[in-house]
Amino acid sequence: MADAENQDLILFTRGNPAEEAIPLADIVDCARDIFQREGKVLFQYGHYSGYRPLREWIAGRFGVKMEQVLIGNGSMEFFTFVGSLFVKWGETVYVESPSYDRAITAMKRIGAKVAGIPLEKDGVNIEALKKELKKSPPKIFYIIPDFQNPSGVTTSLEKRKEIARLSEEYGFLIIEDSPYRYLRYRGKEVPSVREILPARVVHMSSFSKILSPGMRIGFLLIPEDLAPRFHKWSEDTYIHPALPTAGIAYEYCHRGLLNPNIERLKSIYLPRMDAMLRALRENLVGAEWIEPEGGYFISTKLPESINGREIWKNCRKFGIVLTDGKGFFPDGQGENFIRLPFSALTPGEIEEGIRRLAKAVDDYRK
Ligand SMILES: Cc1ncc(COP(=O)(O)O)c(C=O)c1O
Repeated sequence: MADAENQDLILFTRGNPAEEAIPLADIVDCARDIFQREGKVLFQYGHYSGYRPLREWIAGRFGVKMEQVLIGNGSMEFFTFVGSLFVKWGETVYVESPSYDRAITAMKRIGAKVAGIPLEKDGVNIEALKKELKKSPPKIFYIIPDFQNPSGVTTSLEKRKEIARLSEEYGFLIIEDSPYRYLRYRGKEVPSVREILPARVVHMSSFSKILSPGMRIGFLLIPEDLAPRFHKWSEDTYIHPALPTAGIAYEYCHRGLLNPNIERLKSIYLPRMDAMLRALRENLVGAEWIEPEGGYFISTKLPESINGREIWKNCRKFGIVLTDGKGFFPDGQGENFIRLPFSALTPGEIEEGIRRLAKAVDDYRK
């Protein structure tokens, strides 16, 4: 949130849930009940793969064995798990270009050579992927097929199938990160890549966007043969993930509150997404953007005639804050790329923010 001095700033920086998206009263109620019932378990050391009832619940929801479910303290830390288990220093990892900035940083931090495969409006460019595969196949390909962070793109079924096929041909593992998958506001659900090829896909997800990020609960669905390596890594890293918030999440899900909450979230976010699309159409002439069907993000690419770097550096002058677009590209492109999260802003703030962005753009024409 803006600090006191900058109260009027509109922050297009973080992909946070809206304040009213977090079902606080139900969380408090679930906490009281589960702490009373299960306190002796939840405040003691536990199993290295996480709170068993929650693992069982997740396994049931996704139709996998409980042994394939690993809970983590948020999903962010799984990047280091995956990297440490499958990628040696100097080996290659593919990401979509653009991709989630923190994932790129995490992969670089473990010493991976990160190659970006250009993203189009229906997923990565398959020809570019094939070309890169012939040159230097990766150990893993990290993709965000549903309402991608940062672009908003959803990968088509055809491209999901082709990526799955290529992973078999070239022997790489797919890391499918889908924290926004349940926040679909329009269109038809597309099967996850894990559903297409369960043997080669580690599916990553999280309660951060559908319940609460502060609870820090992420989870992995792991192919059966790889699961023991992950569980051992978890044990050797932190003994086990935190139990009290996993207990609350379990109680919440067990009471049947999650699906109604997801429907409630859709009714909060759809008007925000539409407000942003409308504001872009009305104000940002000459820019390109993708119309997402869900999630938290729209992204735009400013025309080449505009100096995006200057806008990013000076955007506070215009009353907005933007994330540096270059962070989303492993090779430092992205000067004119702007990620616009709509989740935490009201429709009014979105409209005003896009008007300010348009003013900044006009000011920094090259
Ligand atoms: C694509 C993606 N993956 C992972 C994360 C991390 O989520 P978590 O809160 O579960 O650590 C985020 C958070 O914004 C995200 O956008």
